Amino acid sequence: MSDTFHGEAEGCFLYSRHWNPSNKYLADAIARMEGAEEAWVTASGMAAITNTILHICNTGDHIVSSMTTYGGTFAFLENYLTKFQIKVTFVDITNISEVEAAILPNTKLIYTESVTNPLLRVSDIPALASIANKHNVKLVIDNTFTPMIVSPIKLGAHIVVYSMTKFINGKNDCIAGAICGNKEFIDSLIDVNTGTAMLLGPVLDPLRSSGILKNLHSLHIRMKQHSYNAQYLAEKFSAASIRTVYPGLSGSKDHEVLTRIMNPGFGYGGVITIDLATAERANKLMEMMELEDVGYLAVSLGYFKTLFSNPGKSTSSEVPEEIQLQMGLSEGLIRFSVGLDNDIERTWNRIENCIKTLGL
Ligand SMILES: Cc1ncc(COP(=O)(O)O)c(C=O)c1O
Repeated sequence: MSDTFHGEAEGCFLYSRHWNPSNKYLADAIARMEGAEEAWVTASGMAAITNTILHICNTGDHIVSSMTTYGGTFAFLENYLTKFQIKVTFVDITNISEVEAAILPNTKLIYTESVTNPLLRVSDIPALASIANKHNVKLVIDNTFTPMIVSPIKLGAHIVVYSMTKFINGKNDCIAGAICGNKEFIDSLIDVNTGTAMLLGPVLDPLRSSGILKNLHSLHIRMKQHSYNAQYLAEKFSAASIRTVYPGLSGSKDHEVLTRIMNPGFGYGGVITIDLATAERANKLMEMMELEDVGYLAVSLGYFKTLFSNPGKSTSSEVPEEIQLQMGLSEGLIRFSVGLDNDIERTWNRIENCIKTLGL
């Protein structure tokens, strides 16, 4: 009993908030996928992010974060952490010398996303890891956009967080997250006396775990198809002279970095953005695309249908307008999470028809 309580009895489960068999199967599979020693599964992506940060940082610490991250993450870093006097310096994560210059004696972690939401900038994980190691700080990577495509821990990151709500589950029928790291970190996160996750209790419901584990087995095929379809649409939008961002486009800013760090065979990911300059033009196109059955006007991503949204007014609305401008987030931006369409040419024909009808 005592060994079980202290997590030292292999195969024994103390209490479901700590570990349970379904969560352990899923966590072990995610850890194996990432090349991490261990993982722990959470009730949402935000739970993975916030518990990781709260576990690493104490009152008065400092964080260096990418300026472009998911809006909820930005709000947590910018607004919530002030209650613990934790300060955050936001940087252009693609500018490695700016990242290093922002590190202070009380910096505890560098935070970024492999491919950032929604601007699709790519973090040079090996370069960031070498700065993190030099200054003895943790490198935490949100890999939600690029499971299988990027393996941050193999590239030197210390901790990887996921919103499994997205590509990993792939069905938009649950909310879930994961934290991957070394055994020491995961053990301390769920320590019965001091572990942030054990004591705040953001554990994933085990019934959900078994559903996600089933879906995980098709992730490699889904990522290939999402990427294939996204590449196709990005090339078509670009050829139609619409400002398109997709790291798979050879002329795109971060094509070289992603090509260097990615695992071959899964493409460049399922998310693309186009910029129609004004929110009005973006809304008109999104509304017509929904009517023409291109997909759904919705904020999530990683679903089997194509989803599109206007980040400035939705998933990044927590970011104040002046910062949106500073980071280059146009009000006319449309983010597409490209689905698993079998006939992507037909999807493009529908989109092109909308563009022509609206005279965009
Ligand atoms: C990159 C990224 N990380 C984290 C989250 C938060 O995930 P969840 O909604 O599962 O809490 C999101 C949500 O959109 C996201 O896009």
